Amino acid sequence: MGSMRALVFFLFLISPLHPISAATVPPSPRIKAVNLGGWLVTEGWIKPSLFDGIANKDLLDGTQVQLKSTAVGKYLCAEGGGGSVIVANRSSASGWETFNLWRVDSTRFQFRVFLKQFVSVNAGGNAVAVATTPGLSETFEIVRRAGDPNRAKTENSVTADFVGNSNWGSDDPSVFLITTVGTMRGEYQVTNGYGPIRAPAVMRNHWQSFIVEKDFKFMKDNGLNAVRVPVGWWIASDPNPPAPYVGGSLAALDKAFTWAEKYGLKVIIDLHAAPGSQNGYEHSGGRDGSIDWGVAGSGNVEKTVTVIEFLTRRYAARRSLIAVELINEPRAEGVDFDTLKSYYQAGYDAVRRHTSTAYVIFSARLSADAGEFIPFASGLDGTVLDVHYYNLFSSIFDGWTAQKNIDYVNNQRASQLAAVTNPNGGPLSFVGEWVAEWNVNGATADDYRRFAEAQLKVFSNASFGWAYWTYRNVNNHWSLSWMITNGYISLL
Ligand SMILES: *[C@@H]1O[C@H](CO)[C@@H](O)[C@H](O)[C@H]1NC(C)=O
Ligand SMILES: *[C@@H]1O[C@H](CO)[C@@H](O)[C@H](O)[C@H]1NC(C)=O
Repeated sequence: MGSMRALVFFLFLISPLHPISAATVPPSPRIKAVNLGGWLVTEGWIKPSLFDGIANKDLLDGTQVQLKSTAVGKYLCAEGGGGSVIVANRSSASGWETFNLWRVDSTRFQFRVFLKQFVSVNAGGNAVAVATTPGLSETFEIVRRAGDPNRAKTENSVTADFVGNSNWGSDDPSVFLITTVGTMRGEYQVTNGYGPIRAPAVMRNHWQSFIVEKDFKFMKDNGLNAVRVPVGWWIASDPNPPAPYVGGSLAALDKAFTWAEKYGLKVIIDLHAAPGSQNGYEHSGGRDGSIDWGVAGSGNVEKTVTVIEFLTRRYAARRSLIAVELINEPRAEGVDFDTLKSYYQAGYDAVRRHTSTAYVIFSARLSADAGEFIPFASGLDGTVLDVHYYNLFSSIFDGWTAQKNIDYVNNQRASQLAAVTNPNGGPLSFVGEWVAEWNVNGATADDYRRFAEAQLKVFSNASFGWAYWTYRNVNNHWSLSWMITNGYISLL
């Protein structure tokens, strides 16, 4: 009797918090999907030609440069990493000698140092790195000189004109050799690279041509049943997103839903790029590699919830909508567990305000335990845990043979997946990104086929399903349409 009363009380208290009934999410859909990577969130390596029309396209936002004075043969350095003077006395370069470009236009740039301040020339004519937001005195012009043919390809001869004041003391040259040590080619870089006049037409043309209706027919005809569509946070302020992003990706996503419905495919909306960047990679839409998404006081987390709410409200009634992924690949180095967990709760609630049937996908953090969100997700209905499996991006795969890679899939990957796949409830498991590419030199077509088959077999155990990265890509093995057309992968 006592326990019965307690139960009634419990239900009475809890039910008003969950107005949408719980058990309506359908069981395991066994998704066989492909990612539409590089479509609504730019990735330069997927389609390099998108950047071809940009002036000085090797000097984009987030390009990491090192500057060596040609007069003294030493590298510029932000002393202490930032917050102090700029010196030109280092004989080798690493973090403090590396500057992140912010591009103002094709010839004017700001230089962000290790601790994120910007280089400027102070009233005394000394170069310092103290400004936390860049203005006119943090803006420099880079003037290229005709290259010396004997110089290494990665180096450019430049003169740096320090806004009319180049008095840097005795070792004060205004000529530097710029070496590029890192580049970014994401949505920020392409749109800011073209600038506000040209970017809208370039991006619209890309969105209209990169993925078209017949691609959805191809997917359907070849045994796929869903697409995972990476989108960027700016889509929610279409048609007038904040600069440099440009409007139009929302109309493209609308079309994806229409085509998905026509060919009987499901759609997973994947928030790949969150404001401030959740991982620093170019595919998160960021400017310079910083991870500022979860920074307290930035408002980025709250803004992201409104993006999820916007997207869910817009597509909740579409029968193709199967899932909303709250954020892609947050990186443990910059996003802590508690911040992400409270976002996952708020994002989940935002989805549930509009649909009881769409799954809500939580992405595992990069460089963290893949299962860390399972206990939390287990308390919520209709959740999915997304894990990404690449035999790449880690030195452990260096020098491996084809067979060693395949064995790894059959053994380690199978156990990793089993560890996040609970047959008795909890979140469903989703291998939301994988590819039949590796670091094997001289692999044969048959090696690739066996590698793809092994992964398909192991990943068929994921209780939500899997998604290949990606549909179209200039790198053949990364293009599922190429892999299917050329007989490397068959799903039929
Ligand atoms: C470079 O110059 C700064 C400022 O004069 C000095 O503090 C620092 O020790 C110098 N470093 C090297 C490696 O010479
Ligand atoms: C799928 O999971 C079951 C249960 O854990 C396991 O016995 C089986 O070996 C797995 N299959 C593959 C191909 O990994």
